[in-house]
Amino acid sequence: MIIIKESGKRIESNPVTSILNILQRNDIPIETYCGGRAKCGRCLLHIAAGADKMNPRGKAEIELLRSLGAGENIRLACQSYARGEVEIEIINPGK
Ligand code: FES
Repeated sequence: MIIIKESGKRIESNPVTSILNILQRNDIPIETYCGGRAKCGRCLLHIAAGADKMNPRGKAEIELLRSLGAGENIRLACQSYARGEVEIEIINPGK
């Protein structure tokens, strides 16, 4: 389960589908310029709860987040998979 903190909306998660894709499929706006390739750094999430239910960060995500100076509970939606209940804030919801 993914809970959108801003709206309280709850959507089904899937451990093999990225949170970016899940948000897009549910028409929840989130910026992406690179299409989910861990290049643009626009799909940032703040994990408000359930960080321990997320997949570990991969090398590309670690490097991009480091270059952005992102904090500990920040993830790239395109590289994140929820394996349980997580609460997220979308940092760049777009328009
Ligand atoms: S969509 Fe570009 S880094 Fe995630």
